[in-house]
Order: sequence, then C-alpha cells, then structure tokens
Amino acid sequence: MVAFNLSARRRRACRTRPRPPVRWHSDRAVIPKRYLLFLASALLVPAAAAAPVFEDTMAQRVLACSACHGKEGRAGPDGYYPRIAGKPAGYLYNQLLNFRDGRRRYGLMARLLDPLSDQYLHDIARHFAALDLPYPAPRPAAVAPAVLQRGEVLARHGDAAAQLPPCTQCHGEHLTGVAPNTPGLLGLPRDYLNAQLGAWRAGERRAHAPDCMAQIARRLSAPDVTAVTAWLAAQPVPADARPAATLPKPPSIACGSAALPAGGARR
Ligand code: HEC
Ligand code: HEC
Repeated sequence: MVAFNLSARRRRACRTRPRPPVRWHSDRAVIPKRYLLFLASALLVPAAAAAPVFEDTMAQRVLACSACHGKEGRAGPDGYYPRIAGKPAGYLYNQLLNFRDGRRRYGLMARLLDPLSDQYLHDIARHFAALDLPYPAPRPAAVAPAVLQRGEVLARHGDAAAQLPPCTQCHGEHLTGVAPNTPGLLGLPRDYLNAQLGAWRAGERRAHAPDCMAQIARRLSAPDVTAVTAWLAAQPVPADARPAATLPKPPSIACGSAALPAGGARR
C-alpha cells in the first residue's frame, strides 16, 4: 500500500533523482494528497472493495496518474512529468516494467507499480496508447540558428564520423515513433529530452539489452545533445501524430526493447 507522507517522500525522491543538465522545477508541482488516496483506492484495491459510487473503468482507475502526468496523461506543466497519452503501447508497457524492475528510477512510481501484475500494466499501457489528444504548440527555440541546423542534421542524417545514426532511423521518418515499442520524439519539452539523454549517459536510465539508446546518448557530445534537443523541441507535431507501423529497414544498432513483442512479459 502507498504511504501518504508525500512531502518527505518527494524530497527523498528529488535527492536520488539523476542530476539533469537543466534546472528542475518540480518543487512547484505539489501533488494533492487526495489524488494519491484516490490512486490507492482506485488502482491498487480490487474493484469489489471500492466505494459503491465508483465507476470501475480504466479511465477512472488511472485518474491519479494525471496528478503528475497532466489531464489524461497530456504531460505536467513544468517539463518534468512526461506526456504518456498516445505513445506506442509496447513502449509504455516497457517503461512501466522498467520503473517496476529498476531500469528506470523514480521511487514513487516504482512503489505504485510494484504490486501490479504484468497483465494489468499492459492494460494501463494500452489505455494511454489509445488516447489521441492534441499536442501543445512548440515553444520557439532559444538557441542560435547554427545550433538548430546542427540539431536537424543529427536528427535527419546523423553523423557518420561520430558513429551516430540519424534519430529518424529508429524513431520514424516523421519522428512520431514506430509501433509497437519505439516512442516519438516530437511534442516533448526540451527539459525532458535533455534529462532522458543525460540519464542514459549516466547509466540512470536503462532499456532492455542491448540498450541502443545508451550507446547513442554516450556518442552524442554535450553540444550535440543541446543541438538535437533544441531542434526536436521546436518542431510542431504533425497532424497525424500516430507512430509509424514499421521501419523501412532494420536499424544499424540493435535495440533490445524494439525487438520485444508488444505485450511480451519479458523482464
Ligand atoms: C508522483 C508523480 C507520478 C505519478 C503519480 C505517476 N507518475 Fe509516471 N512518471 C513520473 C515521472 C517524474 C516520470 C519521469 C521520470 C524520469 O524522468 O525517468 C514518469 C514517467 C512515466 C512513464 C515513462 C514515460 C516515457 O515517455 O518514457 C510512464 C509510462 C508513466 N510514468 C506512467 C505512469 C502511470 C500509468 C501512472 C499511474 C499508475 C503514473 N505514471 C503515475 C511521475 C509520476
Ligand atoms: C538504433 C535505434 C535508435 C536510434 C538511432 C535512436 N533511438 Fe532513441 N530510442 C530508441 C528506442 C528503441 C527507444 C525506447 C527505449 C526504451 O524502451 O526505453 C528510444 C527512446 C528515446 C528517448 C526516450 C523518449 C521518452 O519518451 O522518454 C529519447 C529522448 C530518444 N530516444 C532520443 C533519441 C535521439 C535524440 C536520437 C538521435 C540522436 C535517437 N534517439 C536515435 C531507438 C533509437
């Protein structure tokens, strides 16, 4: 069960969080205690024990996720709590396994997910993946045009000398992701992108082995991280934001997570 000493817990979580290359704003986002109480009753307690007024749908059960992840999982206001709505189902499922099994670290989520079965995590992932909600307009990039240009080159063409394949090779030509397991890279705040690449470089975020993103993040120089995240975050999300069905050709670096069957219960 979840304990409710939230502020102490959040302070602890903040201390153990990977140091991002940017400033956190998370202190501003206070999570109302009632959401976690709701989560405890809605998500973790069997439906039979719930209050009689409770409408037992998945949308109701995951309402508390939106305390952090924004309305219907559209992302929190501060660039730290990521969007989960509309991301590929296999990708979301893999992330829930990653938090539960320790490949990604966020204590509060790990504790929430720990008691849930693989099947239930898969159902939660499918629920969020099926949401088709609009994205906010991108913010203008606050970097020099040459930096943006370098970011676009990396994203679309890569850098052979640095052994960097283009991001489009795996994230899809339109960077909206590839079903079932590879996420899109557009519509995400720059702080979040920086934090994830930083976490991979530091070994704080891991994916199923072989972890292609760990290799890519380590091959990106610090200025290249700046360039590619600035460019990605400044792109509008295309009208059809759905992940591509397949990749035109297999990636040049193997990705363990991409190869997993959607819904496979491998750890
Ligand atoms: C207390 C706040 C909080 C709650 C409640 C919470 N999350 Fe999270 N979640 C986070 C944070 C913070 C991250 C990003 C951590 C990181 O940077 O690695 C995250 C990341 C994720 C990711 C990975 C997203 C991605 O694009 O890689 C998924 C999926 C996710 N959460 C699903 C859920 C679900 C489903 C619930 C409800 C059962 C939930 N979360 C409840 C804070 C929360
Ligand atoms: C060889 C394939 C491959 C290439 C090339 C690649 N990626 Fe990835 N990327 C993946 C896979 C697979 C995942 C999902 C990993 C997981 O399950 O955690 C991922 C996940 C990510 C995420 C996490 C997104 C989220 O919502 O948390 C970011 C950020 C990212 N990649 C950035 C990049 C950037 C920037 C580039 C280009 C410089 C790039 N990737 C190139 C395969 C690739």
